[in-house]
Amino acid sequence: TTRGALKYEGKAKRVYATDTAEEYVVEYKDDATAFNGVKKAQIGGKGAVNNAITAHLFPQLEAAGIPTHFLAQLSETEQRVRAVTIIPVEVIVRNVAAGSFSKRLGIEEGTALARPVVEFCYKSDALGDPLINTDTAVALGWATPGELDRIRELALKVQAFLVPYFAARGVKLIDFKLEFGRTADGTVILADEISPDTCRFWDAQTGEKLDKDRFRRDLGGVEDAYNEMLRRVMAPAGT
Ligand code: C5P
Repeated sequence: TTRGALKYEGKAKRVYATDTAEEYVVEYKDDATAFNGVKKAQIGGKGAVNNAITAHLFPQLEAAGIPTHFLAQLSETEQRVRAVTIIPVEVIVRNVAAGSFSKRLGIEEGTALARPVVEFCYKSDALGDPLINTDTAVALGWATPGELDRIRELALKVQAFLVPYFAARGVKLIDFKLEFGRTADGTVILADEISPDTCRFWDAQTGEKLDKDRFRRDLGGVEDAYNEMLRRVMAPAGT
């Protein structure tokens, strides 16, 4: 695969065209941002960890019936993906109260939720990804009702795969964020990444945070936490 023109640069990734219109190359960067880009730093090895974790999980999600953009890992920090147009709706699935959910509703972090909560946000750095509902997304032409039903169904399928996957590796999956895209023929597939940048992972035994909250909250040990999550994702169940 030859990497062509830069199509898009986000906070943590770059997307390149390839010699075929149906495929892109995604490059994972070490850049980390928080609070809508107000806080910036480099996390050594982050791009490689997030690329490896996503490359390991997406084929398993595919096998579990969730269509994804992932095609192949190309290098430490690059992967080949199906070309999609990203739907500007970030989908958050929560199992345990944390982060903005705890803040908004005054629920203590760590409070278990009786069932998974799916939230939709508008993907906008300038606005800080505000919470929306499905009516908003339809009224503003971001997705159709049918697409949003499908996105919710797929997000809950991802949830159903990931919770036991991480539990078998000593990690409590607190919440995570997904993005979906449309292929040229209009099929909705899972895009973006699943990594310590986009999930909250707590050690099942100690409750230690093993995700980007270490960076957001200045807890230290950021690189160690990312490496530990890579190790656990790659480990067989029950180890
Ligand atoms: O901050 P909040 O509690 O809404 O985050 C919920 C989950 O979504 C966390 O796992 C966080 O890492 C992820 N997230 C993300 N990108 C955003 C906002 C949240 O990956 N822009």
